[in-house]
Amino acid sequence: MAQGREHFNTQIGFILACVGSAVGLGNLWMFPWRLGQYGGAAFLIPYLLFVYLIGVTGLMGEYGLGRMTGKGPMGAFDQVLRKKGMLFGRTMGSYPVIITFLITIFYSVVTAWVVRYVWESFFPSFLEKQDFGAHFNSLFEGGPAILWLGVCLLIVALILGRGVSKGIEGINRIMMPALFGVLLIMIIRSATLEGAGEGFRYLLSPDWSQLTKPITWAMALGQAFFSVSLMGAAMVVYGSYLSKDTDIPYSSFITASFDTMAALAASLVIIPAVFAFGIDPAAGPPLVFVTMPEVFKSMTGGYFFSIIFFVGVLFAAISSLMSIMEVVVDGFMDQFNTSRKLSVGVIAGIAFVLGIPLALDIDNLTIIIDFVSIYLMPIGAVLAGLVFFVINPIKETRDEINVGSNNPVGRWWEPIARYVFIGVSILVVILQMLYQVG
Ligand code: PHE
Repeated sequence: MAQGREHFNTQIGFILACVGSAVGLGNLWMFPWRLGQYGGAAFLIPYLLFVYLIGVTGLMGEYGLGRMTGKGPMGAFDQVLRKKGMLFGRTMGSYPVIITFLITIFYSVVTAWVVRYVWESFFPSFLEKQDFGAHFNSLFEGGPAILWLGVCLLIVALILGRGVSKGIEGINRIMMPALFGVLLIMIIRSATLEGAGEGFRYLLSPDWSQLTKPITWAMALGQAFFSVSLMGAAMVVYGSYLSKDTDIPYSSFITASFDTMAALAASLVIIPAVFAFGIDPAAGPPLVFVTMPEVFKSMTGGYFFSIIFFVGVLFAAISSLMSIMEVVVDGFMDQFNTSRKLSVGVIAGIAFVLGIPLALDIDNLTIIIDFVSIYLMPIGAVLAGLVFFVINPIKETRDEINVGSNNPVGRWWEPIARYVFIGVSILVVILQMLYQVG
C-alpha cells in the first residue's frame, strides 16, 4: 500500500473505539432476552467466566496480532503462516472477513430500525400508537424499509470515510460517554417505577437447573464472543491501528468490563420496567422494539425517556457497525489497493443491495443472525487463536502482547491461551452443532 497505515491518536481513543465495537445490539438487545431465557442470574456464571477467562485472552490475542502485523486478518494470518512456510494464510484470513461481511448486512438492517425509531420518537404522536406489535411488523414493508437501510448505511459510510482517528476515534469519544450516561439515567428511571421491585426479584432469582444444560453453556460462550466482538476480525483490525505504547492486557480487560457493565445495565433498565408495566419479560427479540415503547407510553416523562433511550441504542449499534464494516473496508483496500473512500462506497453499496431481502423479511433475518452469530463467528475466533497462539511461537506472542504494558502477563498466561482458549472454544463450537443451538 502506498501510504502508511492509519493510527488511533491516543490509548483512550482506542479503548473507547473498542468499547464502541463491543457494546452494541448484543448487549442492549440480545443480552436481556438471553438472560431471561437461560436462567436469569444463573446465566451470569458461565457468561462472566467466558468473558473474563476466554474473552479477555482472545481480545489480547486479536489486538496483539493486529498490532504485530499492522494488518487485518488476511494480511495478518498470511504474515504469521508464511514464516512457517505455509502459504494459505490469506485464504484462511478471508474467512473472518467474509463472515464479517455477512454480519455487516444483518447488523445494518437492525441498526436501520433503530435509526427509524430515533427519528419517530421525536414526534409526540409516536407514543400514541395503539399497537407497537403492528408497528414492528410494518418495519418490513417495502419502500420505507429500504429507505431506512440506505440512511443507516450512509451514516456509517460518512463516518468511516473520514478515517480512523477523525472518523472512528472521534465519533466514539462522543458516543460512548453519552451512551453510558443514558444507561445511568435510564437505570434510575426504571428503578423508581412503581412495581420495579418484581423485576429485580426476577433478575436475582437464579434458575440453577439451567446450568446443568449444555445449551446454556454454549449460548453463554456464543453470547460472550459476540458481545466482545471476538471473531478474528474487528479487533484484529482495530489492533492494527495501534502504536507500540498501548497497554494491550489493560485495554482488553477494560473492553470486557465495560461490555459486561453495559449488558448488565441494559438488563437493569429493561427488566424492571417491563415488570412494572406487567409485560412478559420473556418477550425475546421484540423487547426493545415493541415492549419498551409500550413502557414509555405509560411512563411519566415517556416522551423524553424514549428519545434518550433510542439515541443510546443507536450510538451502541452504530459504533459496533462501524467496527464491523471497517473490517470489510480494510480487506477491500488491502486486496484491491484502493482508496478508503472508494472502498467504503463499494462495501456500503453492496451491503445495501444484499440487505434489501433481509430488510423485507424477518424470518430470513433471524435465521441468518442465529446461524452467523452462533455457528460461524466463533470459528473465526478459533482461527485467529490458532494463528497467534499455536502457529506463532507462544513466547513471541506473549512478548508482543506485553510491549508497552504496565500489567504484563506472565508465563501462566501461555497455557491459558494455547489450551484453555482454543480447547474451550472448539468444544463449544462442537456442542453448538450437536445441540442445534439457534
Ligand atoms: N459486539 C457487538 C455487539 O455486541 C457485535 C460485533 C460482533 C461487533 C463482531 C464487531 C464484531 O453488538
